[in-house]
This record gives sequence, C-alpha cells and structure tokens, in this order.
Amino acid sequence: MMLPAFERLLKETMGLDAVSIGRSAVERAVRDRLAACDLHDLDAYWTHVCASSSELQELIDAVVVPETWFFRDREAYAALATWAGHERTKPSTTATLRFLSVPCSSGEEPYSIAMTLLGCGLAPGQFRIDAFDISTRAVALAKRAHYGANSFRGDDLQFRDTYFEWVPPSWRLNDVVRTDVHFQQGNLLDPSFLPGADIYDVIFCRNVLIYFDQETQDRAMRVLRRLLKDTGTLFVGSAETGLALSHGFASTRMPLAFAFRKSRAAKSRPAPSSQANQKPPGLSHKKVPTVPITAKSPAPSATAATSKPAAPARAADTSSSLLDLAEAARLADLGRLEDAGKVCAAHVRAHGTSAQACYLLGLIRNAAGAPTDAVQHFRKALYLDPNHYESLAHLTLLLDKQGDVSGAQVLRKRLQRLAPRAEG
Ligand SMILES: C[S@@+](CC[C@H](N)C(=O)[O-])C[C@H]1O[C@@H](n2cnc3c(N)ncnc32)[C@H](O)[C@@H]1O
Repeated sequence: MMLPAFERLLKETMGLDAVSIGRSAVERAVRDRLAACDLHDLDAYWTHVCASSSELQELIDAVVVPETWFFRDREAYAALATWAGHERTKPSTTATLRFLSVPCSSGEEPYSIAMTLLGCGLAPGQFRIDAFDISTRAVALAKRAHYGANSFRGDDLQFRDTYFEWVPPSWRLNDVVRTDVHFQQGNLLDPSFLPGADIYDVIFCRNVLIYFDQETQDRAMRVLRRLLKDTGTLFVGSAETGLALSHGFASTRMPLAFAFRKSRAAKSRPAPSSQANQKPPGLSHKKVPTVPITAKSPAPSATAATSKPAAPARAADTSSSLLDLAEAARLADLGRLEDAGKVCAAHVRAHGTSAQACYLLGLIRNAAGAPTDAVQHFRKALYLDPNHYESLAHLTLLLDKQGDVSGAQVLRKRLQRLAPRAEG
C-alpha cells in the first residue's frame, strides 16, 4: 500500500491537499498511527483505517494543523468590534446575532469573538457563536477552556486579566465568555454540514482554505456563501483573501481585517453545479490565488478611503511613496494584479526599492501564479529588512508548498522569535 492512497483518503474526507502541509507530514501522521495501533506495515494499517471510522478520526487528528491563538490578526477583531458597536445601537436589533467559527481549532478564535462582543457591551444571550472543527481533540480542548502560554501571544494581554483565572498550570476561561459559545465536531466539507441558508451575521473561516486544493476551496466557499446572510461579513485568513475575492466577495476595505461581504454582482451566480467555473471579471478562471493579497499597508487610511480606479502611470507622478504602495495593495485586493504590479514597479523606479515594495511584489507575483518569482521578492524583502514579519510568514508558506521542509523550518523558527512583537 502506497502513501498516495492515504493522501487521497484524507483529501476525500477532510479536503486536505497533502502538498499544502508537505507530503512528509502526512507520512509522519500515518506512521505514528500505524505504530499507535501496533501494526507493522502500511497495508495492514490501510485495511484498519478503511474499516474503522474512529481510526480515520484518529488519523485526521494526527494530521491537522491546529495552530491558533487568542486575537490572532487583531485587526479582524477591531473590525468586528466596530461592526458590533453599530449593531448594538440599531433600534431594530432584537434578534440574537449569530456567529460561526469554522474551523475553531481549540477555541481561541470563537472565544476571542465572544470577548470582543462582551467588550462592546453586548450582554450574554444577545449573541450566539457556533464553533466547529473536524478535530475531536481540538473540540475537546475548546470545551475544556484551559489555556497555556502558547495561546497568548503579543504584548496586549489585558483580556487575560479580565476573563481568565490562573488555575495552575494553565489559565481557565470564565463562564461568562463560555456561555454563548457552542462547540461541535464538524466537517466543513460534509454535505450535511449545517443545512439551511442565510443563517449567520458573521462567519470566521480562517486559515483552513489554504490547506485545500482549488476544487475543494470552491466547495468550501459555496458552503460559506450559503450560510452567510446577504448583509453578513466573512472573515478569512491573511493568505486567503484572494480566494474570497475570486468567489464573489468584496473587501470591506478594513486594512488587515481580511473581511468581506457578498458582492452585489455575485448574487446572480448560477447554481452550485456550474459555480465552480465562475469567476468575477478580471480574474482568470484557472487561477484561484490562495496567497495573501491584502498587504500590510503603509498608509491604511489611503487604502481604505480611495475608490477611484488607478492608472498605473499615476504612481510615477505622486509625491508620496507610501500612497503608491497603499494603492498597489488596494488594487491587489481588488484582484487587479497586473495594475498592482505596474504601480509597484513604478514606485520602485521612482523611489528605489524597499522591503515593503518587495513584499507587495511577492504577494502580487504569487497571486498571479508565479511562486518562484514571489520567493525571490520575499527573499529580497528579508535581505532589506530581516525582521519583515509578513515576508517571513509568506515565504515560509511558499517553501512549505514547494516541499522545502528544512528551509521552511528555519524560517518558522525566525517567525516564532518575532511573533510576540509582531502579533501583539
Ligand atoms: C490552523 S487551524 C485554524 C484555526 C483558527 N480558525 C485560526 O485561524 O486560528 C486549522 C484547523 O482546521 C481544521 N480543519 C481542517 N480541515 C477541516 C474541515 N474539513 N472541516 C473543519 N475543520 C477542519 C483543523 O482541525 C484545524 O484545527
């Protein structure tokens, strides 16, 4: 029995694209389970895993990437707080606000949503958060709600003093936060996952789509679209913004929040059977950029405020180099990769190169399906600024995808050293 059969099994059940985590990671999980079952060869383990749904679940638990922490991508929670503040003051708001966190991993994400809402003055009972993850182990940890140091990153940990109690050797989350968060094991790709439509005001689906291949991403995006109210907001991971854009979502233009609404144009998208072939104008049908598009903008207000179409030639004229890069990020966010690339290139000609410009070029080239170019741009960004966090993060992801496990490992260590400073 060859390993590709296990890869296919994992792809069919949970959507995992083995390349996204590295084939060696899948092999490791399979061999760990084989040893745990006291079996001696892959054939025997294959027979066992095909016959036992509980062993399949064990294999899934062994292969998932559960990495998460409280208030990951803080700007997303800042955007959520702004939204919740508006909702709270609406006289018409009497219904319970509905939130979905999928995948929720060990609970840090849905609990961060709850803390944000409570912090905005919403009372327990005014909202409900449904949280799902395919990993039974992660869901069990989430329900237990005891957390170690790894779940708290960054400098701003005031929320921990407010909502947690130190019960050695970990922090226990208090019941006020836990009350309205409902955990369940669930597979986003299961055809019976959450039947119904227009259920949620806000969906967080972050840092899982990157592990799927294009066809599976399409399926997942259709599920999210069905579950989200027409007026709802979808939060994705920083590396998944291009995917939302290519599936009929429009950026809310809140810098670094990675938040999207259903775009009006996409309302008339055809039935699911033919949806996989549909892409909004301007994006190539073949290409679904799963790479980060929204960049750390050097001038967020410019990124958020401007809506006029950009002419690439404009960049060379402008006196503000920061505005150029904000404009390039905005264009990239809109999926206008070629224009974004031209603005960036013009910026470099006019102002010289910089880590931020190289980083943006890396994002753009990656989104355009040129990962080798992207790697070079990210490396250049790191040459200019060895602590450029986003470049490190995206280069790590790319090296992983390209199977350069040891290269990615080295970068991951650098990332970990930078994480507390950068994530805070
Ligand atoms: C990197 S964590 C992301 C957690 C959280 N959303 C965040 O951004 O911090 C990825 C999670 O996806 C879960 N997962 C993978 N495939 C899934 C699927 N098909 N359905 C539901 N959860 C899945 C894994 O179990 C893992 O906990």
